Amino acid sequence: MKKIVIIAGMSMIFSAQANAQTETTKAETKAAVKEAKMITKAFGGELKKALKKAMKAGGPINALNVCNTEAMPITKKAAIDHNALVTRVSLKNRNPENIPNEWQKLVLEDFDARAAKGEDVKKMGYSKIVEADGKKTLRFMKALPTGGNCLECHGSKIDADVQAKLKELYPDDKAVGYEKGQVRGAVVVVKELN
Ligand code: HEC
Repeated sequence: MKKIVIIAGMSMIFSAQANAQTETTKAETKAAVKEAKMITKAFGGELKKALKKAMKAGGPINALNVCNTEAMPITKKAAIDHNALVTRVSLKNRNPENIPNEWQKLVLEDFDARAAKGEDVKKMGYSKIVEADGKKTLRFMKALPTGGNCLECHGSKIDADVQAKLKELYPDDKAVGYEKGQVRGAVVVVKELN
């Protein structure tokens, strides 16, 4: 008889703990996603600013060189600044460093499927909390839509001189042939929860 009482008591304690955990996870998740969105916005803004400035200063060839030398340092700086893993990935990557891993690939494929069904790429995102070794980590992705000016370097009618420069810098370039409105890739933020 006594044993049963103890077991019942313990299970109550466990279920109370489980509930408390679910609650903190909800609040934590919300805060973490909010932060990831902020990181993505700040980082994306910096990249766009650098691209715009370079296009204005010397057209696509100049901007290509700027992307080639600046995009990765800007990305790495964002990661350090925000104490998170910050990357850009694409199913058809230009930079060999931007190949998605297994879960990122699945999310990108899902983004493509959703875009094909007419969902607005600008609003497309993904977030999930994963747990390993007792640590909770947020996986966050935000789709990057192919806008009009992206086509100058990622479209199907790229100027011959731009094409030549791309070939020289990226012999394995897959990031061409896009159309306006498609998913060009995504920003990834992976951050451990506090
Ligand atoms: C002036 C040429 C140019 C323009 C315009 C341009 N890109 Fe790129 N893009 C590049 C180059 C070069 C790289 C490879 C260097 C890097 O960023 O790591 C690249 C890489 C990327 C990547 C990283 C994944 C990969 O393929 O390596 C994404 C995502 C991307 N571009 C999105 C865009 C979007 C969205 C636009 C429009 C807002 C855009 N690009 C406009 C030249 C350009």
